[in-house]
Amino acid sequence: MRRLKLAILISGRGSNMEALLKAIAADLDFPATPVLVASNKPDAPGLEIADAADVPTVALDHRDYGKDRAAFEKELDDELRRSGTEIIALAGFMRVLTPWFVSRWEGRMINIHPSLLPKYKGLDTHQRALDAGDSEAGCTVHWVNSGVDDGEIIAQARVPILRGDTEDTLAARTLIAEHMLFPEALKIACAKILKR
Ligand code: GRF
Repeated sequence: MRRLKLAILISGRGSNMEALLKAIAADLDFPATPVLVASNKPDAPGLEIADAADVPTVALDHRDYGKDRAAFEKELDDELRRSGTEIIALAGFMRVLTPWFVSRWEGRMINIHPSLLPKYKGLDTHQRALDAGDSEAGCTVHWVNSGVDDGEIIAQARVPILRGDTEDTLAARTLIAEHMLFPEALKIACAKILKR
């Protein structure tokens, strides 16, 4: 069975990355195998989780490149090519990617976002859902295009907003849904790529 070589890009905690690694380890038929975890922050706790799971890691500190976004992305792209990456999962990767990078990976890059897109693109999704008086929130996995949180939706999961919820309680409930949704959406994305 063919497995796509997967790179996961992170910037911090890495709990979604960990959920992907665990789902892959638990399923012999998972259509992806991790070849690289990359972070734009050298101190991202997720890097240690990946290390412990024996997945190669690389840290490229975006601050070393100053305002030269293109140089940072060129280096990242080189690392991805060297690892043989065939599909990229953005898992809490907090850098907006340029059209150059996106065009190189379009159709092979997915992202998880903590809202029911197209609602609440960008940051502070949970507070914005609370402020709007919404009765439900959720998360979305989508293909990445050159817009921010804008590409075609692969899968979504809904969670209720409960009386007394704060940004933190809603984020925690949504995160549990993210960890279940992301591996399933990755499988769907892999199947689509493998069918091409
Ligand atoms: C998640 O809520 C994800 O949806 C968002 O950033 C957060 C990352 O959390 N894009 P983690 O690093 O996966 O724990």
